[in-house]
Amino acid sequence: MAESRTTHLLTTLSDDGLAFGCDYNPEQWDRDVWREDVRLMREAGVGLVAINIFGWSSINPASGVWDFSALDEVIELLHGAGIRLNLGTGTASPPPWLSTAHPEILPVAEDGTTRYPGGRQAFCPSSPVFRDYARELVTRVADRYGDHPAVALWHVSNELGCHNALCYCDESGRAFRTWLQDRYETIDALNAAWGTTFWSQRYGAWAEILPPRQTLSLRNPSHVLDFHRFSSDEQLGLYRAEARIIRERSAAPLTTNFMVTAHIRNLDYWSWAGDMDLIANDHYLDNRLDEPRRELSFAADLTRGLAQGDPWLLMETSTGAVNWQPYNLAKQPGQLLRNVASHIARGADGICFFQWRASAQGSEKFHSALVPHAGTDSAAWREVVELGEFLRLLDPLRGTRVRADTALLFSWESWWAIEGEGRPSEGLGYLDEVHSAHRAASDAGLTCDIVAPGADLSAYRFVIVPALHLIDDRAASVLSDFAAAGGTVLVTFSSGIVDADDRVRLGGYPGAFRDLLGVRVEEFAPLLPAQQVTLGSGAQARTWSERMTVADAEIIDHYVDGPAAGMPALTRRASGDGAAWYVSTHLDPEPYRDLVARIAAEAGAVRGPGHEGLEVVRRDGETHSYVIAINHTSIDAAVPANGRDLITGQTVSGSASLPAGAVRIIEEIR
Ligand code: GAL
Repeated sequence: MAESRTTHLLTTLSDDGLAFGCDYNPEQWDRDVWREDVRLMREAGVGLVAINIFGWSSINPASGVWDFSALDEVIELLHGAGIRLNLGTGTASPPPWLSTAHPEILPVAEDGTTRYPGGRQAFCPSSPVFRDYARELVTRVADRYGDHPAVALWHVSNELGCHNALCYCDESGRAFRTWLQDRYETIDALNAAWGTTFWSQRYGAWAEILPPRQTLSLRNPSHVLDFHRFSSDEQLGLYRAEARIIRERSAAPLTTNFMVTAHIRNLDYWSWAGDMDLIANDHYLDNRLDEPRRELSFAADLTRGLAQGDPWLLMETSTGAVNWQPYNLAKQPGQLLRNVASHIARGADGICFFQWRASAQGSEKFHSALVPHAGTDSAAWREVVELGEFLRLLDPLRGTRVRADTALLFSWESWWAIEGEGRPSEGLGYLDEVHSAHRAASDAGLTCDIVAPGADLSAYRFVIVPALHLIDDRAASVLSDFAAAGGTVLVTFSSGIVDADDRVRLGGYPGAFRDLLGVRVEEFAPLLPAQQVTLGSGAQARTWSERMTVADAEIIDHYVDGPAAGMPALTRRASGDGAAWYVSTHLDPEPYRDLVARIAAEAGAVRGPGHEGLEVVRRDGETHSYVIAINHTSIDAAVPANGRDLITGQTVSGSASLPAGAVRIIEEIR
């Protein structure tokens, strides 16, 4: 297998084993703690440390005043201990002196109110003043450390757009208009794309266009959609501006930490990924969700999709509780290892944490860390040391790749469009639909690649398209061509409804896929929150139903009750050697899993032994293949495998026992 550039870069982050790292904020501690920190990092096997993430006010304490002495000292301490640096550019949060001197850099919310300093990331992404100051900071950091031998990776800013993705200030308005002029060239083209004859919204000049601030009534959805696109591009612009400066001064690779996670949706990472030397993601278990660990698996698969199947780096996660959920749950014993193993199973070649030492002060003081408040005489620290040993044992996994012949289409743009104002039902959440599809596939034993609409599908047998509301003509034809060439697709309701301008595709839903599926939906018939419908097969469903007719497909199941009683619910259209399936409602987990299993079998997609409580993913190397099996249940289990258990060193023949809560990684000869 040819080693890709990213795979190679990841191997430079650690001498042996998978990279083990963390954010380190030495600014929060006295010098004597630094020495202890470095000693403990070595004890735990931490080899990659992110510093200077929030260092701006320390190295640049006043306008024109620079003091790198503390950072120099920390860098030498870490370097002296053989620890590599994931060096932050420090631009993530401007210091108070800057916002005091230039309050015009502060971000503005959609209601026109200013967001003040006192937290972090309090800047407008389009502010030329902010960008000037940030440029100077990056230039100085890169001049000083650009060729330092300890710098293994550049960490541009931090979670760009986490808090300030959407800024509605006048400066953002100016930048938005420039972006729109690039996109549409003429105001007539913009008026046509946005359908501004509606409600007398026609623009006569660019200067009349504002960011989509809060209005009395519903806003123009195309306007809002373009503002999302613009805002994602502005944040990417911040990355690019820093990257340009660093690349002139350093040969080390660059990245920034993505937030592929349930609670962030404002950045279209498909358009960012190509700028990264390697893909890095931050992921925290979100206990507000019904199934946090399922979301983890989905996010990890999506991160691998962004990395185009290459290995990637988990840049931040937590050993235990976070501090930003309403109930910040501690992890169960063994849960840390299972979570880490899920990321690795799905392509991570390095695991880093926020943060090294739990803060004593500041708003994150109750966030877990590698070194807890209790110190090293604690179960948490012992788990950290064990984790370091575990990661070292996984050296053979480096550079291996997850193989999947099932893909799931995912789109941030479509997410923005489907959850806009004035939609048929607030009960339809894009992530709910995507997560349910991913869950159904996982429970059916499938490993899914997550890909962008329009991506090459030739490597797949089966493609799942959950609630892909917005799709452009080209991406729609990639899917139709895939089916025509013998591929099998499953499209779910609310897909193919609008074009790239958010204009409804007329003639019956699901417009872009009507011919592919051979069905024609005349009317949506969404359900009330507590309402369920029953299908002829006995399956229960919720959220949505539709009144549809079938032109050229077989009716597999129909509605027994509800607003579409008697009408088709599930259809299949044969297409060459493949088939195009359509499901017009949100099936409950079991029937959804059974449906996906049935279609996968028909498509000839490879199904593994994984199911509800058992996560089993395979990573392939040139000579060996690795079965990563995680038992999330409290019942002992087993998985078929033949080879060597990387953790215990024991030989496995036929089947590997997988006790309740355990992780096994079995090396098999290919
Ligand atoms: C991330 C961020 C870190 C820290 C962490 C806490 O969003 O990058 O700096 O705040 O969350 O979970």
